[in-house]
Amino acid sequence: MNLSDYHSVSKNLHSGQHHENSIIGPYLYQFRYKINIVHLVNKMADLAEILMVDHLAIRNLSRDLNGRTDNFELAGFHEYVMSCHVEIEEKIVFPMLKGGMWEDSRNFNSAVDRIKADHKLIDALAKNLIKWHYDGNAEMYSLRFPLYFKLLLEHNGNEESDLFQRWDRLDATEVRGAKKDAESIIDSFGRKRYLEIVGYTDAAFAYIFGR
Ligand SMILES: [Fe+2]
Ligand SMILES: [Fe+2]
Repeated sequence: MNLSDYHSVSKNLHSGQHHENSIIGPYLYQFRYKINIVHLVNKMADLAEILMVDHLAIRNLSRDLNGRTDNFELAGFHEYVMSCHVEIEEKIVFPMLKGGMWEDSRNFNSAVDRIKADHKLIDALAKNLIKWHYDGNAEMYSLRFPLYFKLLLEHNGNEESDLFQRWDRLDATEVRGAKKDAESIIDSFGRKRYLEIVGYTDAAFAYIFGR
């Protein structure tokens, strides 16, 4: 719940009390209150929050690895990054954010493009790392491996501070639809693999996606 939602509920609670002596007052109050509760429930885990949980999982993985490359399968993990997480950002989230009615649209859209360009850089580095690994160039692989997570974590942080903060200012119906579209991308990538990487249980995933 953000501050404006809180104010909205408080205002309607107050207006319900205001009408309590009239015949329709209590019903009007209940109706308004229900509308607000439905609104809040639908906002419990929006797509920006889901992507930030992905970021948290990536941050924890990076911390656990602590630069060690043994037993870490970069190709599979990077496939998740590009085919699932980045796919959701580039196909759904970034275009919707750019379509928002912002007072600083020009600057904001440039920020979206700049952050989107990081994806190509991270992908190019990962492809080099995977090639060095398969070629047996262990020295280059272990030397550059920490840079992959460094760039990815910096990039994720910029998304959180500069882009995702505006997500809940977009149209609520479109935001709800976006979550369904994201679920399709997760299913195309493989729901089971997604759950393993991010660390959701089936029940948590069902709750978050309203199943
Ligand atoms: Fe990204
Ligand atoms: Fe991201």
